[in-house]
Amino acid sequence: LPASFQRKVLKPIHLSNGTVLPAGVTIEIPAYGTSRDPTTFPNPEEFDGLRFYRMREANESFNSSSASTVEAAAHNQFVSVSQNSLPFGYGRHACPGRFFAANEIKMIIARSLLTWDVRNVNGAKERYPNLDLGVNCVPDPRRELEFKEI
Ligand code: HEM
Repeated sequence: LPASFQRKVLKPIHLSNGTVLPAGVTIEIPAYGTSRDPTTFPNPEEFDGLRFYRMREANESFNSSSASTVEAAAHNQFVSVSQNSLPFGYGRHACPGRFFAANEIKMIIARSLLTWDVRNVNGAKERYPNLDLGVNCVPDPRRELEFKEI
């Protein structure tokens, strides 16, 4: 997501760096940028399937008492929301459907991996470019994939 949630400014907001957000404008949250901030996520452009698993492990060993271990494990999950994880929003209106979405996505991927071999047409290795539609960044539905039942 290039951006996640939007808000309309009702009263002028003065930020500590001197920036003023005037009443009436719509602001949006740069979730894409925060998700790729190398000070939070080293090598952000590199796919690392265990990135968040390792971050949770590091949190757990840092907080050793059992109550804080539970809390540490709750951070850096797919559904976690924080100032560094904004794709599902943050605060009072954070997405309530994210737990359902996470389970659906896992079931679809697991079912697909169990049922088919999947590849790009003619086995091409490069990822198809995403489509940017407004604030959304989505797979291009015009592209084709090849499925073989296993
Ligand atoms: C990967 C999938 C999804 C993403 C990335 C996503 C993302 C978001 C974001 C960014 C917001 C705005 C939060 C805010 O304004 O602070 C939101 C709100 C919301 N989402 Fe989702 N969502 C997803 C799936 C779902 C699903 C599956 C449902 C319902 C079954 C759902 C229901 C809602 C509802 C009802 C709100 C409004 C919450 C409110 O305004 O209090 N979402 N979502």
